[in-house]
Amino acid sequence: MTNYFEIIHKLQIEHNASAAELLALLQCNDAKILEALRQAAQAQAQQTFGNNVYLRGLIEFSNFCKNDCLYCGIRRSNRKASRYRLTPQEILKCCATGYALGLRTFVLQGGEDFAYDDKRLAEVVAEIKRRYPDCAVTLSAGERKPEIYRQWFEAGADRYLLRHETANPEHYAKLHPAELKLATRLECLRSLKEIGYQVGTGFMVGSPYQTVENLVEDLLFIKGFNPHMVGTGPFIPHKDTPFGEEDAGSGQLTLKLISILRLLLPKANLPATTALNTLLPNGHQQGILAGANVIMPNLSPQNVRDKYTLYDNKKHSGSEAAEGVAFLRKLLAEIGYENPISRGDYPDVIR
Ligand code: 5AD
Repeated sequence: MTNYFEIIHKLQIEHNASAAELLALLQCNDAKILEALRQAAQAQAQQTFGNNVYLRGLIEFSNFCKNDCLYCGIRRSNRKASRYRLTPQEILKCCATGYALGLRTFVLQGGEDFAYDDKRLAEVVAEIKRRYPDCAVTLSAGERKPEIYRQWFEAGADRYLLRHETANPEHYAKLHPAELKLATRLECLRSLKEIGYQVGTGFMVGSPYQTVENLVEDLLFIKGFNPHMVGTGPFIPHKDTPFGEEDAGSGQLTLKLISILRLLLPKANLPATTALNTLLPNGHQQGILAGANVIMPNLSPQNVRDKYTLYDNKKHSGSEAAEGVAFLRKLLAEIGYENPISRGDYPDVIR
């Protein structure tokens, strides 16, 4: 018989588990065991970060994308998507708003947009760092050549988010067009780390065709890669994509995965994501209580927020919005957390 408490204990002490142990934990639905896992993860997060939750201002700078990922609402073949691209001035204005609200990390996320090539984005990053030297800049702009990643790093970018989406190559092929390969994605992740970025990866929970064994592969890949950040959220269908009629992933399973990730990577920055908060009531609070330590409020200009629709009903108001930061602070205070005015780097990073 599986002793689940022993698996949780091993995760707490060794920050590791075998494939069989992870599988058993993922398949377990016993409320007592799930609560023990959650408590262990929350305790680990508090040991690493105290009662601090770090905020990142998310600036969705372009929804043009040359890729055609089957799950994503801004895929190139979605003719119904209304496309926009922020100018460098608009991006800088978002940063000014965010800085005044106490945010000290700006995340520039966009589709793979040719107009935001190496040079243009490098100039924006350099200008943000010139104006706000006490802030971190995170980029999330897809797969690029190592030279371009290097150019952006030299311009001052500190961190890079690139989810691996699934660590299983066959599953990857079912979610992406033929020209996108898991091997290329992993090459990009390795090169980002080598260049010196704090690197984030991650995956969707409950994406079409995903099996529980795939999730074990995701966890083992992440443990081995040892990223600085891991983003996980439930898959949520977008009506104008091939997966429009699929079921959404499970919020509860996402929370369980956050807890396991917290124990596997005790120091990693783990966000309670927008997708989680879109699917679950009090998703931010629930994510933090499950071991997450980051929330990324939306700093994009109001008039484009509806357009960056990766999935249906994506939230961008209330605690999800930068102008809702006071509300978010109240939600965090309710569960005993606060948010310091801090870049919130990975604990061991020396700057
Ligand atoms: N549901 C949930 N998450 C999604 N993403 C893209 N489309 C969806 C969707 N339909 C996630 C991907 C991507 C990140 C920016 O958003 O994991 O890496």
